[in-house]
Amino acid sequence: MKESSDVVIIGAGIIGCAIAHRLAQQGLTVTIIDRGYPGGEASSAAAGMLAPQAEATHGLKGPFAELCLASHRLYPEFVAEIVEQTGIEIAYRKPGTLYVATDYVEAEALAGLLERQRAAGLPAEELTADEVRKFEPALAETVQVGVYLPEDHHVDNRRLIEALAVAAAQQGVRFITHTPVIDLMVEGDRAIGVRTPGGMIAGGIVVNAAGSWAGLVAPQLQKHIPVRPIRGQMLCLKQSTPSIRHLVYSGHCYLVPWPDGRTLVGATMENVGYDKRVTAQGIGHLLQAALALVPSLAGATITEMWAGLRPGTPDDRPILGRTPAVEMIVATGHFRNGILLAPITAKLISELITSGQPSLPLEPFAPTRFAE
Ligand code: GLY
Repeated sequence: MKESSDVVIIGAGIIGCAIAHRLAQQGLTVTIIDRGYPGGEASSAAAGMLAPQAEATHGLKGPFAELCLASHRLYPEFVAEIVEQTGIEIAYRKPGTLYVATDYVEAEALAGLLERQRAAGLPAEELTADEVRKFEPALAETVQVGVYLPEDHHVDNRRLIEALAVAAAQQGVRFITHTPVIDLMVEGDRAIGVRTPGGMIAGGIVVNAAGSWAGLVAPQLQKHIPVRPIRGQMLCLKQSTPSIRHLVYSGHCYLVPWPDGRTLVGATMENVGYDKRVTAQGIGHLLQAALALVPSLAGATITEMWAGLRPGTPDDRPILGRTPAVEMIVATGHFRNGILLAPITAKLISELITSGQPSLPLEPFAPTRFAE
């Protein structure tokens, strides 16, 4: 038996690291264990969009929208705190999203998106084709209409996870990397630690933040953690100056420009299991969609292509809270919103652990909802 901590967290992605950091700040001893290295999976594969309004495919009302908007509000402070603690600069920008439509079907969908923003009282500006091109002159002539969402932001997620891991370590969090969890240690009706090839790691509380792998940690709890990986392929295009300035979404791809001339193009949505390959079809589709939207990207250099596995759930909502039968705290299933939801997840899970009273209700996200 290795030494014991108050809390053992499985998974050193942005969710696990953010929870670890919060708990350690409050004086708890925390060990975080990962089969790879901090942020090595979906957290670094993401594009860093903090876009609850653009990504509100399920509407902007109800517990999930509230969770996303609450986390979005926490973000500036969350980033500032990590920067101040570590001295590591993290780009945090407020470019807003320009959502565009190039055909009738997309225009109908965009009208629905605009309606949802208005119904929720959120800022959204309807733009004609001419107005869209004033915003972004490089957009193709095929763009017929647009909606500007000024409150959508962007963060350098790779730098953020790197800094967050440093911040957590500075707070005393112990990292055990390149070590898989092979089983839970269970006593009575509670998980009290994990087994690894190198021995056991005990903790008063176990938090499962293993992203797409969360369901595999504890086969006996899999029905409460029905996470499945949804592959997202992406690529990076580099120009001497970027063609666009805002986040641009269409029904076929999204574009994330950086001031240094990089434009990230994302992302596929593929239910192909634990397969992180970059495929000709996936990249071909993204390139075609990107060039159709911004023709001047045609001369850009492809500097990187990659894929990550989003932790999807049957209802596209995260899984947050205690499992029944064998008690363990789960914080996974963040699907397309893992970067966005890190601050609120860390806040709610640390409140659940330290006071038993999360400041937002966790019932809508309870692990028990799937087995009911
Ligand atoms: N949030 C963007 C994506 O999942 O592709």
